Amino acid sequence: MGWKYKFLFWISSIFWLICFSSGYVPEDNILIDCGSPNNTKVGDRVFQADNSSISQLLSTTEAILAVTNSTSIPSSFDSNLYQTARIFRGVSQYTFPIKKQGRHWIRLYFFPFSFGNFNMSTAKFSVSAQGFTLLEDFQVHSGALMKEFSLNISSNQLMVTFTPSFDSFAFVNALEVISLPDKVIPDHVDFVGPKGDDENLWKQALETLIRVNMGNRTVSPQNDTLWRLWVSDDTFLNDNNDLVNYVSNITSVDYTVTNVTSEIGPPEMYGTMTRLDTEFQPTLKANMTWHFNVDPGFDYLLRFHFCDVQHLRPVTLFNVYVNSWLASTVDLPKETANKLGAPYYMDVVTRISGDRNLNVSVGTFNIGDIVYPEAILNGLEIMKMSNSDESLVLDLERSSKMKAGIIVGIVVGSVVVVLVVVFFFLFLCIRRSLLHSGQGKEDYPFARNEMARGSTDGGAFFSSSKIGYRFSLSVIQEATNNFSEALVIGVGGFGKVYKGALKDETKVAVKRGALQSHQGLVEFRTEIEMLSQFRHRHLVSLIGYCNEQNERIIIYEYMEKGSLKNHLYGSDVPCLSWKQRLEICIGAARGLYYLHTGSAKSIIHRDVKSANILLDENFMAKVADFGLSKTGPEIDQTHVSTAVKGSFGYLDPEYLSTQQLTEKSDVYSFGVVMFEVLCGRPVIDPSLPREKVYLVEWVTKWQERMQLEEVIDPRLEGQIKMDSVQKFVEIADKCLAEYGANRPTMGEVLWHLEYALRLQATDENSNHAGDVPSQMNHVNRLPSIEYSTGSITDMSDVSMSKVFAQMVREDPR
Ligand SMILES: *[C@@H]1O[C@H](CO)[C@@H](O)[C@H](O)[C@H]1NC(C)=O
Ligand SMILES: *[C@@H]1O[C@H](CO)[C@@H](O)[C@H](O)[C@H]1NC(C)=O
Ligand SMILES: *[C@@H]1O[C@H](CO)[C@@H](O)[C@H](O)[C@H]1NC(C)=O
Ligand SMILES: *[C@@H]1O[C@H](CO)[C@@H](O)[C@H](O)[C@H]1NC(C)=O
Ligand SMILES: *[C@@H]1O[C@H](CO)[C@@H](O)[C@H](O)[C@H]1NC(C)=O
Ligand SMILES: *[C@@H]1O[C@H](CO)[C@@H](O)[C@H](O)[C@H]1NC(C)=O
Ligand SMILES: *[C@@H]1O[C@H](CO)[C@@H](O)[C@H](O)[C@H]1NC(C)=O
Ligand SMILES: *[C@@H]1O[C@H](CO)[C@@H](O)[C@H](O)[C@H]1NC(C)=O
Ligand SMILES: *[C@@H]1O[C@H](CO)[C@@H](O)[C@H](O)[C@H]1NC(C)=O
Ligand SMILES: *[C@@H]1O[C@H](CO)[C@@H](O)[C@H](O)[C@H]1NC(C)=O
Ligand SMILES: *[C@@H]1O[C@H](CO)[C@@H](O)[C@H](O)[C@H]1NC(C)=O
Repeated sequence: MGWKYKFLFWISSIFWLICFSSGYVPEDNILIDCGSPNNTKVGDRVFQADNSSISQLLSTTEAILAVTNSTSIPSSFDSNLYQTARIFRGVSQYTFPIKKQGRHWIRLYFFPFSFGNFNMSTAKFSVSAQGFTLLEDFQVHSGALMKEFSLNISSNQLMVTFTPSFDSFAFVNALEVISLPDKVIPDHVDFVGPKGDDENLWKQALETLIRVNMGNRTVSPQNDTLWRLWVSDDTFLNDNNDLVNYVSNITSVDYTVTNVTSEIGPPEMYGTMTRLDTEFQPTLKANMTWHFNVDPGFDYLLRFHFCDVQHLRPVTLFNVYVNSWLASTVDLPKETANKLGAPYYMDVVTRISGDRNLNVSVGTFNIGDIVYPEAILNGLEIMKMSNSDESLVLDLERSSKMKAGIIVGIVVGSVVVVLVVVFFFLFLCIRRSLLHSGQGKEDYPFARNEMARGSTDGGAFFSSSKIGYRFSLSVIQEATNNFSEALVIGVGGFGKVYKGALKDETKVAVKRGALQSHQGLVEFRTEIEMLSQFRHRHLVSLIGYCNEQNERIIIYEYMEKGSLKNHLYGSDVPCLSWKQRLEICIGAARGLYYLHTGSAKSIIHRDVKSANILLDENFMAKVADFGLSKTGPEIDQTHVSTAVKGSFGYLDPEYLSTQQLTEKSDVYSFGVVMFEVLCGRPVIDPSLPREKVYLVEWVTKWQERMQLEEVIDPRLEGQIKMDSVQKFVEIADKCLAEYGANRPTMGEVLWHLEYALRLQATDENSNHAGDVPSQMNHVNRLPSIEYSTGSITDMSDVSMSKVFAQMVREDPR
């Protein structure tokens, strides 16, 4: 008999030992010491070497293993993890198998050090998982940092993607993916604050901002069942409050009374508290308040932990406030069955919209003159909740501000329109008179006032009234027949361009950034910001964008006739006449001129080429692709220093050698485009004999010999007036001057081009005498019509009924 009981006793004690000594054992417990060839022990946990089969790493470029020999590694318990890192120069993705669906923590460890040419303090990157943006344009300047996120994973794998920002790289020192007990994150929480509904949490991603242990004591991750760090509250508590004291009685914590377990909070956290006591001033009402800094624009989940470890009074009622909003009045003895050491917690969600302050107070409760003198708090967790963009980072901040601007704009409405029109005409007059008195242009046979009008091309018109807006992915899927391959009209390094039709039958071009795209977030954002700021009849219009689920999609007006490049060579579309070519050049030059001069700060396109000049159904040219655009130099500077970007063959040699960017770099590229237009051949054509390979060299050579006929597109033969061509080549040649200072401005180029068109048109007129009046009229009329009404139509023009096009960009950068 006895041995049986003994045996049972042994079995049960072994069982309890397993259950309690090792604490919670997560079903998914993936720990990786990134970049390390060896397994690494941290406390009782083993982080696997980065070569192990528990995860799969895919990268567009080689992922570098980095080892530090730095001595400045922080001497924390987890310092072993900071000896190595994995560096990603391209988009890279870890894939982890998931056994248990539900909430998981993703913890990312960062400690920047220098390795070879990589100074991780300068690394800038984004991290996403499950369609959620976890970090964006993120940098760790110094010191070790751990970021913790929680996601509800409903599939059997988890992908964590590292995307370096433009011109940068990404790194990570270690990562953890561990499954949580279901109850740790609730799926429903009450809202506190001005507006908002109770929140369903089960879909959202959370980022843990901080865990605070009250009672002026830090709890290290080894003392926490789920390896959480709880920092001491003393730096957050408002100072000099002599009513506040700290209490510690860890052994008294008793998990048997309430449903709370040590997985919600360890005894080290529940066992210490910060206590407010006004007993000696019985009618005094008081608060203790902790201040935190958070990002505005998000909802936050706050968890308050309470546990009486000191025999408080049998009636203890106190108030809990979040940013002056009463979150709850806590009747602690009731919640804990009046038992010493019984833990209790409470969750609330609040919205932080204005400033960065999050103030949390616990204070006395009173009924009339009766003040209950005690209030306590043992622990506090603050978790940021993902927003409707499925992001934990405010992104496209400017666009959304602009959106708000639109709403205001609509309200203020007609008054503003009138003011704008008046202002615009005033502005026109000022510019006119300035230009009139300014640059002498005697050498051009234009009437002065015409030149002056020309100079106001497009006006400095800032139309913020019609910016593109965010589309949901489903709308785009519908418009493109779920990204049907049959609708692809262009492919490039950035991904694909689809032709699509919105519900109202507006035709659109949909540019979809590939996941592995080199066109990073920065370029995506730049393009949207540029396009939404600048509207002009010679710039391609933005209709909207979408950044749901890791997609980077931009929707443009559809340009029926495709790119200028397509019409010059390499396809079987009908050849453009010389006059059409001149008009296209003039249109593109207007677009660029507007970019350079249309606002206080000039915009440099940086990727001017024939593939980026698109044509609408009437062959009107529009400049496209602003992904590389940059704001020009400040007034008091002459250039912007930047890494060289652009397309091979069109790159300004001065920019290439000095890395100093000015508007004149666009002028150079435009000169190259003009030669393409003249010759109807690619800038670089390796299939040709050696002296012909590089277009610019070849044309320059024949021009010096005064034998331009050799290079002119043979299809133009017979319709082209040599005066016009000579003028054209003369301008292009000036654009290609070695030094930017010697190149004309886009405005000058424009005037010369109009002159070349006039020479050609005069010629045509003399050939077809009957057309003279209308032709002449057309040329002379051109500036005044476009400039006096142009900008106003630019606004209304954006009714998308007549939209077009094709985004063709063959060359990946
Ligand atoms: C990995 O282990 C080997 C042998 O145990 C050791 O020589 C080497 O220094 C370790 N590497 C790192 C990065 O700890
Ligand atoms: C990873 O590297 C360690 C040490 O170099 C080695 O012992 C282990 O077998 C490797 N694991 C895999 C999955 O290759
Ligand atoms: C380690 O330190 C030495 C000099 O202290 C340096 O030359 C070397 O580049 C460092 N190694 C790495 C990987 O940073
Ligand atoms: C790395 O970059 C940071 C910030 O730019 C700089 O302070 C630090 O000196 C750099 N470290 C090295 C080793 O170059
Ligand atoms: C996770 O999501 C599923 C639905 O996909 C939901 O049923 C479940 O309650 C969620 N779990 C948590 C812990 O939020
Ligand atoms: C809190 O703890 C720190 C050290 O851990 C100590 O210096 C400080 O005086 C304590 N504050 C109070 C109010 O006891
Ligand atoms: C855990 O907490 C206890 C009591 O607070 C302390 O004595 C011990 O050093 C802690 N252990 C670690 C690893 O921090
Ligand atoms: C600490 O807790 C024990 C019970 O575990 C209790 O008897 C004791 O009074 C408590 N100490 C204080 C100072 O409250
Ligand atoms: C424990 O949880 C159950 C259901 O989850 C609930 O009905 C009960 O009231 C809880 N008990 C306490 C003491 O909180
Ligand atoms: C939070 O407290 C600070 C300092 O007392 C105060 O300036 C701020 O207005 C408070 N914020 C809110 C939202 O109550
Ligand atoms: C305590 O804080 C709340 C919220 O900020 C406030 O309404 C209340 O007046 C404060 N009480 C005292 C006594 O300061």
